[in-house]
Amino acid sequence: MRKVFLGLLLLASLSLFAVVKIGALLPLTGGVSAFGDLVKKGIELAWEEKNTVLGEKIEVVYMDTRSEKTEAANGIARLIDKEGVVAVIGEVISGNSIAAGEIAEKKKVPMVSPSSTNSLVTQGKKFVSRVCFIDPLQGTALAEFAAKTLKVKKATVLTDVEQDYSVGLSNYFMERFKKLGGQVLQLQYKSGDQEFSAQLSQALAFGSEAIVVTGYYNEIALVAQQARALGYKGYILTGDGADAPELIKIGGQAVEGIYFSDHFHPDAPVTKRSKLFVDAFVKKYGVKPSTLSALGYDAYMLVLEAIERAKTTKPELIATAIRSIKNFEGATGTITIDSNGNATKDVVILTVKNGQFAFAAKISASALK
Ligand code: PHE
Repeated sequence: MRKVFLGLLLLASLSLFAVVKIGALLPLTGGVSAFGDLVKKGIELAWEEKNTVLGEKIEVVYMDTRSEKTEAANGIARLIDKEGVVAVIGEVISGNSIAAGEIAEKKKVPMVSPSSTNSLVTQGKKFVSRVCFIDPLQGTALAEFAAKTLKVKKATVLTDVEQDYSVGLSNYFMERFKKLGGQVLQLQYKSGDQEFSAQLSQALAFGSEAIVVTGYYNEIALVAQQARALGYKGYILTGDGADAPELIKIGGQAVEGIYFSDHFHPDAPVTKRSKLFVDAFVKKYGVKPSTLSALGYDAYMLVLEAIERAKTTKPELIATAIRSIKNFEGATGTITIDSNGNATKDVVILTVKNGQFAFAAKISASALK
């Protein structure tokens, strides 16, 4: 009897150890919850395709950050200390990744952001990496598109001063736009603002040919509606922060024709894997994948690749393996993680056409030096 009991205990503990836990730190509620949901869909699909590593079962532990920095920091600590995850995928937005990244670094557990583009996310860090390009590239691409393709000379930049992402992207946009001869008026707002008439009347008075909103979808949609209601006829431009179906749900007709820089579009597959990913996604969810689903998919697959290369689930060794990944074929492109933990990829410009995101242009990273 005792032997059987001990045997069972042994089995139970063995199977306990036979699970590799990966954390997914996401904004599943709060201001940018649409982003969290999209990334989760990509990770879930990736997990269905590949849910064992080094012969062990993988469990993804989802942790909600409520779209907030403090919760991002608390959440990653919980994932590491309580759940014992060996790596973390997350966060989505830069401010939250900066907060969480401090903890990852202290606890020496690798964190891979699918989508946080602010320079500071990985700066000076050994354990924080990402599978996306960064804002110096994105801001430059958007400025080139505005000045050269759209021939914009006067732009108003609306910066969400509560978001590291928006502050950084605004700066990189303005730097290049001015270099190309453009004139800029920069105005501020805050996440959660509903009313933009003060800024918009200044933008109109300035004679803006483009209003560049560098924040996230909720506020972009409201700015577009209020600008059009005031009779503004110029361009509305934004960065990747526009990319959630909610932009169109909230903005409706007012977001038709906006242009934004982004990482991916399902109609412009860049690798063999893009195509396979899009097909599998459509099969599972019945809709084409968003950028964030593709980036979430890539972050998960890259973490697995790193574990396989490291041949161990020791977090420190996984972190080293992540930094050595070169030419990894992802859904969003070919990913090489450089010594700073960043990936360099081409930028795409998307637009909203008939209530859908549509591919407009591609700006290759090598052309942006
Ligand atoms: N780049 C944004 C940030 O750093 C996050 C984002 C990426 C949002 C891609 C949508 C699509 O905050």
